[in-house]
This record gives sequence, structure tokens and C-alpha cells, in this order.
Amino acid sequence: MDKFEFPKDFYWGAATSAHQVEGNNHNDWSEWEKATNHPVSGRACDHYNRFREDFDIAKSLSHNAHRFSIEWSRIEPEEGKWDEKEITHYQEVINALRERGIEPFVTLWHWTLPLWVAKQGGWENKKTISDFARYCEKVTQSIQGIKFWITLNEPDFYARNSYLFGFRPPQKKSFFKFLKVFFHLIKAHKISYTIIKKIGGFAGISQNNFYFNLFLNKTNKQQDFIGVNYYKYWNRGRIKNDMDWSIYPKGLYYVLRGLKKFNKPIYITENGLADAKDEKRLSFIKEHIKWIAQAIKEGADVRGYLYWSLLDNFEWDKGFYPRFGLVEMDYTTMKRIIRSSSFNYKKIIEENSVEL
Ligand code: GCO
Repeated sequence: MDKFEFPKDFYWGAATSAHQVEGNNHNDWSEWEKATNHPVSGRACDHYNRFREDFDIAKSLSHNAHRFSIEWSRIEPEEGKWDEKEITHYQEVINALRERGIEPFVTLWHWTLPLWVAKQGGWENKKTISDFARYCEKVTQSIQGIKFWITLNEPDFYARNSYLFGFRPPQKKSFFKFLKVFFHLIKAHKISYTIIKKIGGFAGISQNNFYFNLFLNKTNKQQDFIGVNYYKYWNRGRIKNDMDWSIYPKGLYYVLRGLKKFNKPIYITENGLADAKDEKRLSFIKEHIKWIAQAIKEGADVRGYLYWSLLDNFEWDKGFYPRFGLVEMDYTTMKRIIRSSSFNYKKIIEENSVEL
């Protein structure tokens, strides 16, 4: 059997997003949860208060990178009013990662909006672009120690789910609105890219594999790297996760091969599965890593792999039943229980290699 060694400085870790783990957020989503019949995020994982404990776990699992998002509604709860206490909070999050030797990958926007932004029409309103730029300016100027920035998480998917299919807030169903939101998001990315370059950071978007060509051609000059969120490949693959998504690891290889033409470093910023029993997770991780190795062998410049997610968390309109975590959450006691597949992932990380 052939053994593939990953580059020495390869990043290994996991990803989360603010609204899904922090708890007690006050944004367009939390309002929507209350106003409709959807699951309520509530305390989520209480990660806002327990981030140090969670990073201790990540460190014990040998992670050297971690992706999380900053919650805009905390930083700017009212238009133009900065909450310095929250800025300090996120600085502490960065410090806690750095103290543990874990490289932060910071997402500036992972789908949630401050209420005042939602009220003015969210991403449908052109003004939100300059508001977002001001928020980026504030964050990049006041929080130190971040090299990797993800401006937006899956803007295409967001526009589709919230403005075309309309099953997520603000539940609009209009092709015209979808396009408008999509183009505003592209503009927002371009402006925030320039802001991040001023402080010497590296910036990119995390994208769902379905929409790369549509998106990347428009932003190629404003991307230092490509963030890949990979879960499924159309409906290929016979094995399913708990949400009935087909598992098809080789699809990731096809995606990476297709991205070679853009000539950019690539980070897998999400890849994971809902598997409460932890029966399929180990082979899921191994197989995806194998296909990444194969893609690297053939010239794809992949530099990191972040599993989704470190913890079980709030899966948006689906609530808490999907269990994506390397770490199981007991939501009544907030106890964290490390799943056995995580120790195997740790082994892969420590060996920094995989059998092909
Ligand atoms: C995504 C989202 C995550 C989801 C995950 C599982 O980018 O799709 O970042 O928030 O929880 O993908 O569905």
C-alpha cells in the first residue's frame, strides 16, 4: 500500500459558526426561530462561555487549526454602535487558540444578521454592503492575531435558500431578489477583501462545491485562497448520513481537480456528516482525506482540512437532531463527550499521512 505524506505545515482541525454553537444570540435568526414554528437555538452549546474548554479538547485531539465565525450582531447590536466588550471577547477567543498553538480561520459572516440590518432589508438593500464594510473595518482594526479570513460563508447557498427557495429567513421566493442578494454579496466580498489586504491578511470565501464556477469567475482576483465546503456530490453514493444525504468521498477529488485551473491554495473549510451513532464517521473522514491526498498528488494545492464540526450543534432549520460533532453534546448538562472517531482522526493528524 502506498502511503501519502501531507505537507509539513498542513492544517488539521474543525469548524463551527457563531449562531450554531455560541448560544443566546440576538439576530435575525433568533427572531425568526421565535416567530415561526422552527427549532430554537437557545443556549446552543454555550460555546460563548466554554470556548476555552472546547479548545482544550481540540488541542488534545492534536488540531492545529480551527474555524469559527464572529457574530456581527454582537459586535454592532445597533447601527454604528460598537460593543467593545464583545470585541474583547473575540480577542480572547483568538488568544485562547494561539496559546494552544491552533491557527484561527475567522469567518466574518456566517448567515446571521443584526436585527437593524434585517429591518433595512438585509442583503437586498445596497446599504448593507457599506454597513458590512464598516463592520469588517472595525473587526480587522481592533482584533489582532488573525491571518486567515473567510469573508462570507456560502453566499450562493444562502441566497438560494433564503431568497429563491425561501425556506430560511427572510423566506422570500423570487428569482429577481435572489440575483440581487447574490450580486450584493459579491460586492461585499470584494470590498471586505480590500479591507483585509490593508492589514496583510489572507482572504477567501467558503463555498459550497455546487456553485464554484458561477462564483469564482467573478471573484478570482479577490481571493487569496479557495475555501471548499464539501458534503455531497449530487446524489452520488449509496451510504447515507442521518439526514439522508448521500456520502460520496470521490466527489471531493473531482471538485479539487476542477479547481486546479484557478491556481489558488485551497482549504477544505467544511466536510462532515450527521452520524449520531458515530458508526460512519471514521471511514467518512478517512475516505475524504484519501481523496484529498490523491488530488494533491495530481497537483491540487490543498493546504488544510477542517472537519464540520468540532461539536454537535444547532443545524439551522433542522434544529439539534443532526449530530455532526467530533464531540457529542449533552444539551441538558452541556457535557462534552469525545466521540471515538475523533481519536482516529487525531491519529491521522499526528501521522500527517494516509494510506492510499
Ligand atoms: C454550511 C454551513 C453549516 C452547516 C453544515 C451542515 O456551510 O452549510 O456552514 O453551518 O451546519 O454545512 O449542514
